[in-house]
This record gives sequence, C-alpha cells and structure tokens, in this order.
Amino acid sequence: MKTRVFSGMQPSGNLHIGNYLGALKNWVRIQSDYECIFCIVDLHAITAYQNPAELRAKIEEIAALYLAAGIDPGECSIMVQSSVHAHAELAWMLTCVTPVGWLERMTQYKAKSAKLESVGDGILQYPVLMAADILLYQAGIVPVGEDQAQHLELTRDIAQRFNSLYGDTFVVPGTSLPAVGARVMGLDDPTQKMSKSATGANHAVALLDPPDRIRKTIMRATTDSNPAVDFETAGPGVLNLISIYQAFSGSADDEVKRHFTGMRYGDLKKQVAEMVISHVEPFQQRYRQIVSEPGYLAGVLREGAERVAPIADDTVRTVKQRMGLYT
Ligand code: AMP
Ligand code: TRP
Repeated sequence: MKTRVFSGMQPSGNLHIGNYLGALKNWVRIQSDYECIFCIVDLHAITAYQNPAELRAKIEEIAALYLAAGIDPGECSIMVQSSVHAHAELAWMLTCVTPVGWLERMTQYKAKSAKLESVGDGILQYPVLMAADILLYQAGIVPVGEDQAQHLELTRDIAQRFNSLYGDTFVVPGTSLPAVGARVMGLDDPTQKMSKSATGANHAVALLDPPDRIRKTIMRATTDSNPAVDFETAGPGVLNLISIYQAFSGSADDEVKRHFTGMRYGDLKKQVAEMVISHVEPFQQRYRQIVSEPGYLAGVLREGAERVAPIADDTVRTVKQRMGLYT
C-alpha cells in the first residue's frame, strides 16, 4: 500500500507564491508517488471571523487553484474539511490528551494572540484540529512550508501520547519541507514571512495577480543599499528574490550564484518578475477554464469527500473503542 500524504490550506486571503513554493509545488511533484489527500481547511479559517459569503466563495477558489497548479483529481482526493464530520470529532478526543502548556508554547499562537485583545479558544486549539486532520488518515508524510514545522512536531507528540495512553493507534507522521522556498519572505519587508493576512499592497504576489501587478510588486521589493548582487553581503530582501527565482526555475545553487553575481538590482527584479509570470500565467489560464465549467468543482469536492470519509470514520471508530466511548 502507498504511504498516505495529507496537507491543506486555509480558505482565507489570497494564495500567494509562498503557498505555492512552500507547499503546493511539492504536492504536485509527489502526487503520483503517494496516496494523497489535499484539503481546504475551512474549520481552521473560522478561528478568525470570516464573512460567510466570502468564505464560501474562497473554498471553491482554493480548490480551483489546487487543480490549476496541477493537482490531478483522478489521482488525489481533494476535499473540504467541514464536509467530513470526523475532523471535528477526532479533534475533541485529541484535545482531551493535549496539555494546554503544549499549545501555549506554539510560536504561531503566541504571535497571533499577542495582537488580539480577546483570544478565541479556536486560536489555541488550532494545532489540535490540524493534528486531527493528519492522524485521521494515518498520513505518513505531511508536505508543508517551514512555518508549520512546529505544528507537526506537536502532531507527533499528540500521536505518541495517545498511543502510549491507549495503545498503538496512530501513524506518527513525518514533515516534508522543500529544499528552496520553504519560507518565502514578504517583498515589502523581508524580515516577515509572506502571509495571506498581511495587508501591504506590495507585500505578496498572489497566484491570481495579473502580470502587470506582479511586475510592479516585484520591482518595488525592498532590497538593500548595494547597487548589485554580492552574495557575501546581500541583505534578506535580495536573497529572498533570488530564492524565489531559484525555486521557480529549479536551478542549482552554483548556477544561480554564477547567473546573479554582479547583476544590478533593477535587472535582478526584472528577471525574477518574468520567471514568476512565466509560471503563474498558465495557472491563471487553467483556473479560468476550471471555474467556467458549471458543477465541475463541486463534483470534484464531493467525490473527494466521499472517497476519504470511510477512512476517517474507521479511525474515529477505532479511537472510540480504544478510549471506551460508546460506539
Ligand atoms: P496557509 O497560508 O497558512 O494556509 O498555509 C498553507 C501552506 O503554505 C502551508 O503549508 C504553509 O506552510 C505554506 N506557506 C504559507 N506561507 C508561506 C511562506 N511565506 N513561505 C513558504 N510556505 C508558506
Ligand atoms: N495550519 C496549516 C496552515 O496554516 C493548514 C493545515 C490545517 C494543515 N490542517 C493541516 C497543513 C494538516 C497540513 C496538514 O498552513
């Protein structure tokens, strides 16, 4: 039997090149080697208020972008988290074996909660739901960007704790990070991770941004006071641009070094912009095609949920038996 892979993205904000390079590109690459489940994690998105009509539309947009980027629904299951009841159910059972201290230590929790006057419980529980997503399907590999590595360590801790309390139940999953592009930084501020929720006009390149917009955002990217690329002294903005180029082009480190050494920043930015555009334009064409077919997406999502629900139900049944709950 093929190892199972599970990963997901939140239907909030606009998918950007960080999401693509950190996660989606890897998903496409490995999809035929494993039994893959790619999820749209709407229950995670509602840990912050979402306008209901916009959330609904976003779910389909993200699903269409998975397909446009090259996920093959004949090969993988693409599904919406809230359409399979077992995610929320298992999350509760895992909550009950998770010490609050583990959750309070999460850096994403600390960063999010520091900005809020009143912290919703969902923000604290967020990684337990993520653990449930993964453990429900006994996934062996979880391909994500670097910002999720800590949540995956917690997932392993929760799995091991459950296994030691109730007997071997869960596969303990591994993390898969891309070699380049695991942490794409904001173009306006290269000390911050590129993020869907950041508001700056020149912060991110969204996968659905028109080419002119992409050129503008990249040409305005923050660099440093050098005139041209010098790998010894380059600041994080320049290194970020180069790693975006490298991740899209797939070139080796020494090739990239040779190509960019001594290049003026204006030319570097032009080359990065054209590299990004040459990859995202074909997605955008496929995206428009996919959303223009009435009923197609809904069918893909229904089929995905129908395919995975029995696996999830099986796990919940086993967990209930192990815990002595009524089945
Ligand atoms: P999210 O935007 O939080 O739903 O993240 C979806 C996926 O994209 C996760 O696997 C993240 O680790 C990945 N990701 C998000 N932002 C970045 C980034 N700036 N660089 C690389 N990967 C990212
Ligand atoms: N927390 C992840 C993020 O924000 C999204 C996510 C939810 C996820 N459940 C998952 C990723 C399970 C991988 C596996 O990026």
